[in-house]
Amino acid sequence: MVELGVNIDHVATIRQARRTVEPDPVAAAYFAELGGADTITVHLREDRRHIQDRDVRILKETVHIKLNFELSCAPEIVDICCATHPRQATLVPERREEVTTEGGLNLLRGDGVVEQAIEKLRDQGIEVSLFIDPDREQIEKAEALGVHAIELHTGQYALARGADQRRELDRLTQAGVIATDLGLRLHAGHGLTYQNVIPIASIPNMFELNIGHSIVSRAVLVGFQAAVAEMKRLIQVPRA
Ligand code: PXP
Repeated sequence: MVELGVNIDHVATIRQARRTVEPDPVAAAYFAELGGADTITVHLREDRRHIQDRDVRILKETVHIKLNFELSCAPEIVDICCATHPRQATLVPERREEVTTEGGLNLLRGDGVVEQAIEKLRDQGIEVSLFIDPDREQIEKAEALGVHAIELHTGQYALARGADQRRELDRLTQAGVIATDLGLRLHAGHGLTYQNVIPIASIPNMFELNIGHSIVSRAVLVGFQAAVAEMKRLIQVPRA
């Protein structure tokens, strides 16, 4: 069975729009767990645009399922991840101006930055996953770096249509074969929706899918009518 990692970053995005206390991603993690999530995923970005340090501290204490801490290789964030000690850390590239994580890590840069982050995390006994494009050289390098898993970037697949999308699916499937032949655990994520997820979940040996925006979007709409009805009931106070 494919495991579901629920990325709750965008619950925090709504909260940060008002710099208030609701909706609390900690509460969202609780409901995700009740809904059958296998993993709670959060990305503590360097610019703290959604998830805050306080969130990861509390999630570490309250999440009963696997906590997957997404992070860049920035030493400050790697240190916070080490101190939080989640079961899994997923290293991703991060640029301040991006709307969301745009591409996979480039493991072939050879500047030692990813290697240092992996070493620190592994020294703490944290399982490391690398978010990479479905590219043979990247996968082989990931294996050489001794990580537990790779997360294949499904963003191109999600954006493509028709024959292009089938080509992207083939690329991801081939990448999955390469990864599992090398003994790497296979994860995937980014841009997955209720409409496009099934072919990705059907890739042989797929272990974990990390999905955020689409689930949060759906939750807002599915819950909207009930939320309005609740407010409408509350304001029906008797007039003097
Ligand atoms: N996996 C990784 C590594 C990501 O960076 C993201 C986006 O935060 C996701 C999965 C989830 O992507 P989406 O929000 O598009 O489902």
